[in-house]
Amino acid sequence: MGETLLLVGLQWGDEGKGKVIDALSEGYQVVARFQGGANAGHTVHICGEEFVLHLVPTGILRPGALCIMGNGMVVDPKGLLEEIDGLRRRGVEVGANLLLSDRAHVVLPHHKAMDGARESQRGRQKLGTTGRGIGPCYADKASRTGIRFAEMIEPDRFRACLKPLMDLNNRILKRVYEAEPLDFDAVYEEYSAYAERLRPYVTDTVPVMHEALENGRNILLEGAQGCLLDVEFGTYPFVTSSDVLAGAAAGTGIPPTRIDRAIGLAKAYCSRVGTGPFPTEQDNAVGETIRSTIEKAGGREYGATTGRQRRCGWLDAVALRHTARLAGVGSIAVSVLDVLSAFETIKVCTHYRVKGAELSTFPASADVLEQVEPQYEEMEGWRCDISDAQSWDELPAQARRYLEMMERVAGAPVEFISIGPDREQLIRRQGNG
Ligand code: IMO
Ligand code: MG
Repeated sequence: MGETLLLVGLQWGDEGKGKVIDALSEGYQVVARFQGGANAGHTVHICGEEFVLHLVPTGILRPGALCIMGNGMVVDPKGLLEEIDGLRRRGVEVGANLLLSDRAHVVLPHHKAMDGARESQRGRQKLGTTGRGIGPCYADKASRTGIRFAEMIEPDRFRACLKPLMDLNNRILKRVYEAEPLDFDAVYEEYSAYAERLRPYVTDTVPVMHEALENGRNILLEGAQGCLLDVEFGTYPFVTSSDVLAGAAAGTGIPPTRIDRAIGLAKAYCSRVGTGPFPTEQDNAVGETIRSTIEKAGGREYGATTGRQRRCGWLDAVALRHTARLAGVGSIAVSVLDVLSAFETIKVCTHYRVKGAELSTFPASADVLEQVEPQYEEMEGWRCDISDAQSWDELPAQARRYLEMMERVAGAPVEFISIGPDREQLIRRQGNG
């Protein structure tokens, strides 16, 4: 029997998913994305070379893996073609090893225009989206007005769907947002050309997934974003528009009962790009130390998709407990542990206080989260370079204690520890040490 493994971010995205997926993909014949779109930025460093993937599953970097872009994704055809071309230029094979679900929704120019227009109208309440048209595309999907690749690759059908959709959105852009309307003929022509180029990849991926299950293949479900950005369980409304977690079944056609286990990914601290509550944020020297330390190590705390500086702060155990439970993780992967080497003492938020009362669960309201006062426990740092450690036993005792604390919070053992950006700087802990 093959294994279906879900890999999911437990924070606000950017937990280093690319690297762990890359390491795991060696043992998985199928790697599938199931939600989100080009808002994701999955970075992998291979022998000093950096690859950033936005739409194509990270498995593409492992020859032999079949990569599937599932029905739950929202896909920008132009971005996808650019990504494919870019990968090919660097010698990565992209052909029959990449499939795009005919049920995936197409991100169109009006989605990006709407994303920008809605953000500017929100003013100070901006969500800080990536501007990739994600929210408006999922809105069209839920409103049953969206266009999928199944429609896009049929020229007449595409025209018949696109015209009324663009007419309506042009009226909204012009009258509500006082923005420039888009030209139907130009969009139709441009996107028809993309449809032709993408046609070879477009297929019904559901039977492909089911055959893989029946043939005992190992399937890796590559999550994007993180549970705190989940539209159901995240810091609503400062979230993305997809089911970051449960989308694994809905967004691929794999029955929920066939997902065997989940690995949850967490940074050893927290970061967030975009606006919204972040109780443990350190907009001070601590945040600066995190950013400068990671740069010295060859990484970055700048968004891989938008280049925005990431907000950084201490680990939030309240949030981690919330998401690890939701994800039902069997193990966790902890990234950027090396960055904490810079600190004499490391703080961890164990609970919140709000209006004088203790709060140890993650509240639904973003307003409450803005008001909570994080209560910290201090842990002793290790103050030495750990970036060359090869095993759990080579880590300093303080670092192991820190990881054991994360295990208690997440209710699951640490399976991977990332101690630097390169593919090799990853400790896999088998058994108990
Ligand atoms: P990966 O897969 C970090 C954030 C945006 C914004 C909010 C909504 O690399 O972890 P959207 O464009 O999705 O409507 O923006 O979600 N966001 C991410 N932050 N990593 C990501 O992906 C993200 N994808 C979206 O910054 O706050
Ligand atoms: Mg990212």
